[in-house]
Amino acid sequence: MAEPATLLERTCRGVRGPRPPVWIMRQAGRYLPEYRRLREHVDFLTATKTPEIAARITLQPVERFPLDAAILFSDIMTPLEGMGVGLDFAPGPVLDQPVRSEADVRALRTLVPDEHVGFVMETLRLVRAELRRDAALIGFAGAPFTLFCYLVEGGGSKSFTEARAFLHREPRTAAHLLRLLGTSMAAYLVAQARAGADVLMLFDSWAGLLGPRTYGRFVLPVLKETVAAIRAEVDRPVVYFANAASTLMAQVRELGADVVGIDWTLPLSRAVRELGDDAVVQGNLDPAALFAPRAELADAVDEVLAEGATAAAHVFNLGHGIHRATDPDQVAFLVDRVHERSIRKAG
Ligand code: CP3
Repeated sequence: MAEPATLLERTCRGVRGPRPPVWIMRQAGRYLPEYRRLREHVDFLTATKTPEIAARITLQPVERFPLDAAILFSDIMTPLEGMGVGLDFAPGPVLDQPVRSEADVRALRTLVPDEHVGFVMETLRLVRAELRRDAALIGFAGAPFTLFCYLVEGGGSKSFTEARAFLHREPRTAAHLLRLLGTSMAAYLVAQARAGADVLMLFDSWAGLLGPRTYGRFVLPVLKETVAAIRAEVDRPVVYFANAASTLMAQVRELGADVVGIDWTLPLSRAVRELGDDAVVQGNLDPAALFAPRAELADAVDEVLAEGATAAAHVFNLGHGIHRATDPDQVAFLVDRVHERSIRKAG
């Protein structure tokens, strides 16, 4: 295999560079005045479905900050419309109808990416043509269980009680739905890779709602199939972000993703202890630390860098999405700090 072109890809492959690459979860979004300005004229769904607009928004944070990656501007829920789900954002996802029976699951189609979400592939092609060659383009999908949560619940929730009950009340139907989502998201990520995505990420925002037993029974097998289906088709690093999943690390290790994204509640050194010395980790500054005075923010960044140094390789990021009230200048300071600290270390 040829040497990957970007620092992020090399790091995802376990090759430590001169410094950790840095990007920010939800880096394109409402904390950026240029995003808010663009959104005055277009609603969120239209923005995600119009390649020229989605590409512009994808590039906004990379144009403002010296980040090592752009992440596709879209949403984990976007491909579900193609599968037959009626969807709106207010601002979180709201479904026309929850999926609660075998008949509901049967009414869904397996995603055919070029047919159902061709606009995403077009967005990726537009971004790749404009993006600096040394910056990686990240494609992403929702992990099967996180999508399952929204589908069964019918929208957002703190505890997703309906979705978790459904696993136990109708285990066969639940497994069927999870498999359909796994197959569809694998096809989606393969199509994104072919359209120009260098790195593929699965967001499992609600994994932490499950204990190890239920996660091991329902979620891990489908995730393994999803990752295997991707690897059978394309050679791209796969990042698995399991939010609030500190109790699931033994199982996450078994998944064998190239990179594991860690939320801010689990120190990276502890994640590495459970994931193994060869683990590559991504994360995990608390997004709230961006509201600290500069000196404290600098200390918090340095601590994450030191924790990340215990892994085989480290991708610097927040532990979850950036808050919309964040001052963009604080982000600039954070990115500079990662660059500067690493240069001092090398010199
Ligand atoms: O990271 C990026 O910059 C790329 C864009 C991106 C969005 N959503 C745009 C978005 C990504 C990677 C996502 C993933 C996503 N969406 C997740 C997984 C990551 C996580 O946060 O745990 C989840 C759970 C969702 C579902 C979702 N979409 C929620 C809960 C919300 C509302 C909360 C919020 O932040 O407003 C959305 C809407 C959404 N997705 C917005 C954006 C920019 C806000 C819409 C707007 O600008 O009006």
